[in-house]
Amino acid sequence: MKLNIALLPGDGIGPEVIDQAVKVCDTIAEKYNHQINWTSALTGAAAIDAVGEPYPDKTHDVCVNADAVLFGAIGHPRFDNDPSAKVRPEQGLLKMRQKLGLFANVRPTFTFPSLIDKSPLKQERIEGTDLVFLRELTSGIYFGKRGREDNGNTAYDTCTYTREEVQRIAKKGFEMAMSRSKKLCCVDKANVLESSRLWRETVQAMEKDYPEVEVSYEFVDAVAMRLVQWPNSYDVLITENLFGDILTDEASVISGSMGLMPSASIGEKTSLFEPIHGSYPQAAGKDIANPLATVLSAAMMFETAFGLTDEAQAIRNVVDKSLHEGVVTEDLAGNSKAYKTSEVGDWLAKNI
Ligand code: IPM
Ligand code: MN
Repeated sequence: MKLNIALLPGDGIGPEVIDQAVKVCDTIAEKYNHQINWTSALTGAAAIDAVGEPYPDKTHDVCVNADAVLFGAIGHPRFDNDPSAKVRPEQGLLKMRQKLGLFANVRPTFTFPSLIDKSPLKQERIEGTDLVFLRELTSGIYFGKRGREDNGNTAYDTCTYTREEVQRIAKKGFEMAMSRSKKLCCVDKANVLESSRLWRETVQAMEKDYPEVEVSYEFVDAVAMRLVQWPNSYDVLITENLFGDILTDEASVISGSMGLMPSASIGEKTSLFEPIHGSYPQAAGKDIANPLATVLSAAMMFETAFGLTDEAQAIRNVVDKSLHEGVVTEDLAGNSKAYKTSEVGDWLAKNI
């Protein structure tokens, strides 16, 4: 099969972790007889430096014309500490999500048996956790009206949803629940927010189309608590953009490291695959960042974008093996030897 993949390394540790994913993908392609055609493009601070904007049209063209996009990370501290900056790397990510219509962000949370002691949570609580968040990604407070009033002394951001936006993400949630354990949790704050009441009303109206799915409605604050208390009680969760952003960082603690969690963003055009972690600028260029979240995002890409499940499984298997044998970066090494980012990538490629 011919696979045209857009490669967006981005900022910080992005380029380093992407390099390892490329090694793994190229090895998989060789083994399973595929031809990957990589096309690199600029995003984030790297793109601002080169051409003055974080998601240039040229990058969008590359993405739209690709079969899938593999993305590293975005963000640079130079902008974080400057609230007055007019152009920010994150705007590139948001623009990309919007222009590619990536409304559904799939963020699985699972545990690895060999890492169960790495989580700060009690082993008996997290064992066997296997849940997936469907985070709405192109609307809500991230894209609502925002601004300043009162000579800059008052600021506002608005959370807006249309029924249609809720329906399309909820449909993905119901379908995913049908393919798993038929349990769906709608996370909202319907006791306070009007937009949440629209979510709840819309999802309730869709229940009759999926009679086998057992739907629960829970407030986001309660979910934040139960997620670390009884993660096993959840399977598929759907939620709006900001709640999903916060809860998925929290959920990554269950697996033991944020450096392990992949994601897929799907929607109207090309799908995009990226680790859920950020650009981790303190580690940039040091060859110490964990590449596994990006490697596992590549596995999701083989499966979701190309339907190549054996290839995806081969990647997951070699990742499991590396964890089992302790070929891991410093975030997971504990008192044992820590491998470099590039060494983990080489090891994975060699052991596929
Ligand atoms: C994520 C990130 C982004 C988000 C940032 C970098 C804009 O935190 O993908 O979760 O908030 O969506
Ligand atoms: Mn986030």
